[in-house]
Amino acid sequence: TLVPTAELVADAVARGGAVAALNVITLEHAEAICAAAGARGVPVILQISQNAVRYHGNQLMPIVAATAAAGRLATVPVALHLDHVTDEELVRQAAAAGFSSLMYDAGALPYEENVERSARVARAAHAAGLWVEAELGYVGGKPGAPASAHAAGVRTDPDEAADYVRRTGVDALAVAVGSSHAMTTRTANLDTELIARLRARLDVPLVLHGSSGVPAGQLSAAARAGIRKINVGTALNVAMTDSLRLTLAGDRRLVDPRKYLTPARDAMSDTVGQLLDALP
Ligand code: G3H
Ligand code: ZN
Repeated sequence: TLVPTAELVADAVARGGAVAALNVITLEHAEAICAAAGARGVPVILQISQNAVRYHGNQLMPIVAATAAAGRLATVPVALHLDHVTDEELVRQAAAAGFSSLMYDAGALPYEENVERSARVARAAHAAGLWVEAELGYVGGKPGAPASAHAAGVRTDPDEAADYVRRTGVDALAVAVGSSHAMTTRTANLDTELIARLRARLDVPLVLHGSSGVPAGQLSAAARAGIRKINVGTALNVAMTDSLRLTLAGDRRLVDPRKYLTPARDAMSDTVGQLLDALP
């Protein structure tokens, strides 16, 4: 069943837990996520990044239609979120394409420019009925992105964050609290105390990006401290790719994609299941 992102995040806020938001690149990702969520009776957010849209020929339709169909067939509530948008043309297309929310990514820009752009995008997106997330502080680690727009390893400042939320009108804030994108090992170290201070200072839900690199125990601690949406992408790709390498190396004559994508999809589903089991 498809539901709005705002609803799933509001549920997380109400119970003091966190909703998992998983990145979809291929149909197999969407199927794997919905299977794991359905088996546990836990709602999830399926998110498609601008980079994933670029991968699919810079067209929203094919991947969004497939992901939405997987969500509609799911036995649990599923929301569709457009992730890491920098292209304002995509913001304009998001609602019609079927998304109920988006994350506008100006986290790498200097503060005033981030405020100005995010406020403009939030106004436009709200007019289209979308829930809007934006980033302050800089999580970093995205391919091709600058290491940091600020000093290296900068964290989100609570006072600046309060000013940012007030001036942009965003519905949720992605914060830099020690995670980094695209980590293939779980070696990040979160500043849980900073999460608690941000939560106390802000009246919008907090979002954690780059959660693949965070150990499971720290993810549940982050949720207890105030993170309400936990974004995971790379961990699924690690599971998928490890499985593919194994299967393909094990049989040089194998050519039917169904033969190697089935275990790869199962591996992603297991990874999602472990994540869902770790979240309050
Ligand atoms: O927005 C997406 C997430 O931040 C995913 O990060 O690929 O490092 O898990 P990750
Ligand atoms: Zn992210």
